[in-house]
Amino acid sequence: MTRRPAWRSALLLSALLAALLPAASSMGAASGGEVEVLHFWTSGSEAGAVAELKSSLHRKGHVWKNFTVANGGGGLAMVMLASRVNSGNPPTAAQIKGAAIQEWAHRGGLSSIDDVARADHWNALLPHSVSETMQHNGRYVAAPLNVHRVNWLWIDAAALKKVNARPPTSWDEFFAVAEAMKKAGIIPVAHSSQSWLDMGTFESVAIGVGGAEFYQRAFVQLDAGALAGPQMVKTLNTYRRLKQYSGSQSSGQDWVASTAMLTHGKAGMLLMGDWAKAEMQAAGKRPGSDILCVAMPGTAQTFVFDIDALAMFQVNDKNKQAQRDLAHAVMDKDFQLAFNLAKGSIPVRQDVSLERFDDCARRASADFKASAKRGTLLPSLAHGMAQPAHTVARMWDVINQFWSNERMSADDAAARLAAVARQP
Ligand code: BGC
Repeated sequence: MTRRPAWRSALLLSALLAALLPAASSMGAASGGEVEVLHFWTSGSEAGAVAELKSSLHRKGHVWKNFTVANGGGGLAMVMLASRVNSGNPPTAAQIKGAAIQEWAHRGGLSSIDDVARADHWNALLPHSVSETMQHNGRYVAAPLNVHRVNWLWIDAAALKKVNARPPTSWDEFFAVAEAMKKAGIIPVAHSSQSWLDMGTFESVAIGVGGAEFYQRAFVQLDAGALAGPQMVKTLNTYRRLKQYSGSQSSGQDWVASTAMLTHGKAGMLLMGDWAKAEMQAAGKRPGSDILCVAMPGTAQTFVFDIDALAMFQVNDKNKQAQRDLAHAVMDKDFQLAFNLAKGSIPVRQDVSLERFDDCARRASADFKASAKRGTLLPSLAHGMAQPAHTVARMWDVINQFWSNERMSADDAAARLAAVARQP
């Protein structure tokens, strides 16, 4: 029988309590406000994590309204958000990423939650790399939920044993393991061809090939020499090699389906951030033993981060307090524990004990701190942490075309990357 981890039982219990308390929540709602949150957390594990936030707001007497856009990675969600804001009807908050938070704040769309942040001592609780992306002109406009690590390689321990190999630490070793799995009749890589995932893999290949400094030059500074140079060409060629090891089903497959391939023993490896871990756990797998977590080849000294945050929009006076309560709830210590256990990420608050977390989360936390000291904490391009959405979308497009069109050369793709990255 599959043993259900204690945190999952707690999650089920809180969902049950929330379901048993409709009378109490609607009674409280009379004096409370409404909190409408746009997000794209639609998988089973993601919905479980959102339920934590919803019950926290219910307990304060507010009505929770989901504005869910089913599109992993958030592309469509951002289009829907823009249309709501443009029509003068913004949600209370939206799940948006670092660079987009700054864009929205710059346009004057966001509301300050600085009073909550100051009263709750956010500056002291958050790493500087996080707190600075939550502020605009020195005022908090967004509340951070978690830190996801993007540069993970997940390996089915049984498949690795079958080919008698060790977790790869370089791309050469990775392809040797992939080749062995292929010969043993195992699909080596559970790939998903959604563009944000392609890009997430691609950016980590770039670190493995060219190092952290190359990543900074290419994806943070958008240096044309780095984007069109020999290391980018090598990155593109390495990335393309993955194709021959990805199953034929990968085209159009979303991240939940590729994660399920690994979880159900249909593929040997998965290159993806740790939101995938939450799906594995939900299916009864133990991360760190049934499914191994190692840094993507050549990226062990780095941490590519993706921070989920709720940016606060301008709301009417009636819902102002509800918005403040939302900001307060997101940074609450117990909530950070429950949400991150359900989400696969690590708490963004530095004072939350990791005792109840799995080995992979503990490794993520240690690597986050070590990378911060080393200067190799890298903002994920694919997840909107390094560049504004329109730049990322153009670069996604090039990478996606390069993956699907075998006739496009790596030199050509590198030149295109450099060209689109600089377009206003
Ligand atoms: C988000 C995660 C989410 C994942 C899949 C990432 O960009 O940061 O919270 O689970 O996409 O939708």
